[in-house]
Amino acid sequence: MAKNTKTFVCQNCGNATSKWSGRCDACGEWNTIAEEAPRENLPKGVSGGKGGRKIEFVALKGQMAPPPRRKTGIGELDRVCGGGLVAGSAILVGGDPGIGKSTLMLQVTAKLAENAVCVYITGEEAVDQVRLRALRLGMQQAPVQLAAATNVRDIVASMETGTPPDVVVIDSIQTMFSDAVDSAPGTVTQVRTCAHELIRVAKKRGFTLFLVGHVTKEGTLAGPRVLEHMVDTVLYFEGDRGHQFRILRAVKNRFGPTDEIGVFEMTDMGLNEVLNPSALFLAERRGNVSGSCVFAGIEGTRPVLVEIQALVAASGLGTPRRAVVGWDTARLNMVLAVLEARGGLAFGGYDIYLNVAGGLRIQEPAADLAVAAALVSAFTGDPVPADAVVFGEIGLSGEVRAVAQRDLRLKEAAKLGFNQAWVPRPARKSGAKAGGAQAGDAKTDEAKSGLSLKDMGHVQDVVSQFSAADAPQSKNGGTR
Ligand code: TYD
Ligand code: MG
Repeated sequence: MAKNTKTFVCQNCGNATSKWSGRCDACGEWNTIAEEAPRENLPKGVSGGKGGRKIEFVALKGQMAPPPRRKTGIGELDRVCGGGLVAGSAILVGGDPGIGKSTLMLQVTAKLAENAVCVYITGEEAVDQVRLRALRLGMQQAPVQLAAATNVRDIVASMETGTPPDVVVIDSIQTMFSDAVDSAPGTVTQVRTCAHELIRVAKKRGFTLFLVGHVTKEGTLAGPRVLEHMVDTVLYFEGDRGHQFRILRAVKNRFGPTDEIGVFEMTDMGLNEVLNPSALFLAERRGNVSGSCVFAGIEGTRPVLVEIQALVAASGLGTPRRAVVGWDTARLNMVLAVLEARGGLAFGGYDIYLNVAGGLRIQEPAADLAVAAALVSAFTGDPVPADAVVFGEIGLSGEVRAVAQRDLRLKEAAKLGFNQAWVPRPARKSGAKAGGAQAGDAKTDEAKSGLSLKDMGHVQDVVSQFSAADAPQSKNGGTR
């Protein structure tokens, strides 16, 4: 007789144990462990068994067709997907509840339905709710095939018969359940089994499958992270619900580049594409304010200019506050330490707040120099020139390092009407003659971009752009 062992599975990370506990040993989350039925018919081990067929091995070189892609007509989504939807692929769209995943999916299916068969299956809302939303978005005429269903067996059966659809949206994967598994909808086992079944039909019938998944820290729904390895593409829909901007970010893509972003704006008529994000992120900028600096960044293949804001205020606390939105706190602490040790400023005793305007999250180290400029500007009360953009990476010895895609950043800045740029010295090309070649590079750079360039070789060059008279100096005055 089979032993009836119980399995306890963490709903956050999927770790399985034989005993319940309040806290998962693997990921450290509390209250995430739930009992799940053991899987039956585990493979018994195949070595020595009979009946396996010999696999054919082939060479890496060979004839292959590029994956057929279907354009959605929403340019921002197409770019994030690597140029359109690939038939037979599975795309996970994750995001906080209420961020706009259902809205985006409805807009995509409505747009695609003009010349493809699109199925939208909702497990969260009633048919009428979706209809109401379509009415609000002015899309009620689109020939989308809508259904409210949660049983994966029914969904799979419908997909397997008749002509296959071109695109299927499952909103959301956490509400789906398979009666083959003995646990509640939303648990790791259910989410995995349902996704597995749906992906299998998508591959077999050759339609593009969108799986919507909520990312929640709390609650009983399993995070879609357990699905990341099963799907071909993972898109995260991010943004601050208080802001109208939404950013669609590819974090995994078997058919295209990752770290590409699409920018949308949530309006009362649904999501609109933002074709020029830089102009949007800078729209509310007020010129000549201290503590504000425009960073010329790169998101994926696209240059994006954003405003970085800093506030430095005398602190009443023993340990001054360091608050960051849209950037990395550890990176801020590093820039502060370098400004103290190498730039001669004393930030101890001051609360520091740093904000990337517009709700964007910056991950590039190239933002270091812009953050430093914003901090020194906030500290001295002296504004960064309103027509300047800044980029560069800062090293621990205070040196400013060259960053990739310099020309692209400068070009975007010139396009948006900026006149000057604070930049690292151009990286010396290997094989070029020292000295002369470098000066030549800077000249051609300047001519090419149409901006006047200020070379920053060291953080002290940044500090010296401001009237440092009001700023408290650190004891050693900064060392080079
Ligand atoms: P929704 O797509 O339901 O989010 P999700 O599926 O990610 O949970 O979007 C919900 C929010 O979007 C809701 O707070 C209302 C807002 N919204 C608009 O502002 N304008 C619109 O046209 C629509 C349809 C929604
Ligand atoms: Mg939804």
